[in-house]
Amino acid sequence: MALVPQVFLTAEQIERRVREMGCQITADFPDGPIYLIAILKGAFMFLADLSRAIQTPSRVEFIGISSYGRGKTTSGEVKVTKDLDVSIEGHHVLVVEDIVDSGVTLTYLMNVLRQRRPKSLRIATLLDKPERRLRPVEVSYVGFKIPDEFVVGYGLDFAEDYRNLKDICVLSEQASG
Ligand code: IMP
Ligand code: MG
Repeated sequence: MALVPQVFLTAEQIERRVREMGCQITADFPDGPIYLIAILKGAFMFLADLSRAIQTPSRVEFIGISSYGRGKTTSGEVKVTKDLDVSIEGHHVLVVEDIVDSGVTLTYLMNVLRQRRPKSLRIATLLDKPERRLRPVEVSYVGFKIPDEFVVGYGLDFAEDYRNLKDICVLSEQASG
């Protein structure tokens, strides 16, 4: 069996929705700077497009997170593998994520960031799989709600592959040869 990516959301659909999200964020934050904090690595492409769709002055930061025990424990052990280079105290913070699945990663990250006393703290995610939620997460900006399918492309990977696809695709198994 070979894994074949099948287009689920086209580059054009993504582009249109990201532009809308940028307009909404611009309207909600008349005053900058907004600290756009992207979670590595999956959110890099969404960050690149979303940041250009936001008119409010913004700064870009990255945070690395790894989660352990997913599928084995419901608690899911999460840790920061690459921290921010700056203090976010007193600043508007918008966490930029590729996809919210169980919600374990973001629940942990929001607790970490809240302790650093930002002026405001919100989440923007391109994709949301609400059916899979184990922890409630308040997400202010959602690009697309999607069913429980594994998707790749536009930054999202399967074992580090497919991140550079311009569309978001579902990986399906097909007989090879
Ligand atoms: P969770 O919300 O803590 O379960 O984890 C969300 C993270 O899992 C995302 O940031 C992705 O890195 C990864 N993930 C969840 N669903 C998918 C998917 O369908 N494709 C690729 N990565 C996914
Ligand atoms: Mg991610």
